[in-house]
Amino acid sequence: MQKLPVLVTGGAGYIGSHAVLALQDAGWPVAVIDNLSNGTREVVPQDVPFYEGSIADRDLVKRIFAERQIGAIMHFAGSIVVPESVEKPLEYYQNNTIATHALLSAAVENGVRHILFSSTAAVYGAPETIPIPEDEPKQPINPYGASKLMTERMLADSAAAYDMNYGALRYFNVSGADPDGRTGQIGKGSTHLIKIAVEAAVGKRNHIDVYGTDYPTPDGTCIRDYIHVSDLADAHVRALERLIERPDENLVMNCGYGQGLSVLEVLDALDRSLNQPLRRQMKPRRAGDPPTLVASNQRLVETLEWTPRFADIETIVKHALEWERKLQRDAAQ
Ligand code: UFG
Repeated sequence: MQKLPVLVTGGAGYIGSHAVLALQDAGWPVAVIDNLSNGTREVVPQDVPFYEGSIADRDLVKRIFAERQIGAIMHFAGSIVVPESVEKPLEYYQNNTIATHALLSAAVENGVRHILFSSTAAVYGAPETIPIPEDEPKQPINPYGASKLMTERMLADSAAAYDMNYGALRYFNVSGADPDGRTGQIGKGSTHLIKIAVEAAVGKRNHIDVYGTDYPTPDGTCIRDYIHVSDLADAHVRALERLIERPDENLVMNCGYGQGLSVLEVLDALDRSLNQPLRRQMKPRRAGDPPTLVASNQRLVETLEWTPRFADIETIVKHALEWERKLQRDAAQ
């Protein structure tokens, strides 16, 4: 298969930077665009062409398409924090939906025919069927999920009308870090459970808050499907290959392991790995959190022949912790 140059939007961010490495490791030419609002230039390999700017800047995007002869886009750039989206919905529609409209328009005008989009389990809202199949009703309960669902619709309509195809990968809870320590989550204002927990483990925080202990789950805390970021990055490379091989087909698929863990189970795993308990504080529920999200990943496994390499919480927590310690060492230098 011809390995077309790939533009990775948000390639200096957490998931995007892992996708850049996975693409490079598999021999794909890559370029990155990132406005560095959350991302960090240092996690992008030196030999990857880097453009600082917005995906909504059409002139810049068109210039990159031409300069790098881009044939496909992996689109990660966006805002990702569920509770923040409840407070700032218009920012989320701007960054996730309206900015993607600009990127997609530029792609269609310039003949970039494959786009793989970072979607989310939040499109399902509080689903009734667990594990969640892709055809479960899409009823987001926060602006974050709604902004991503609108983008999925825009992609589906565009793929029907124009000479392009798309993939929408609905991520569950992405966590962990590159096993070789090349990148990880930087955390300007961290909100994700495992990131916050490892920050507490290295002493950046003195405790961890547990948001909500009265959910309808066995231990009262929310259940999520934590997927290692490097397994997710591998799924992206496979999805891209499939989009190129089958230009008349689109892909919509959940990305998770199909295993649910409660907040307390995740914190227990970290305690085991540290050989000591982290201080926990029980707090009220956080706005916009559904009780249980676990993926049915049958489509991903069967369609892309995806075999995860890091599907256990011990490994996820270990890699997250190693990365956090590296950040701490670098900061001390
Ligand atoms: N949590 C805590 N304490 C914290 C942080 C989180 O108890 O300090 C809890 C949350 O309340 C929630 C669970 O841990 O119950 C997971 O929360 P995260 O913030 O880590 O992740 P979310 O489930 O809110 O959201 C993430 C992604 C979304 C995606 C969703 C799908 O950010 O993009 O997973 O499950 F849609």
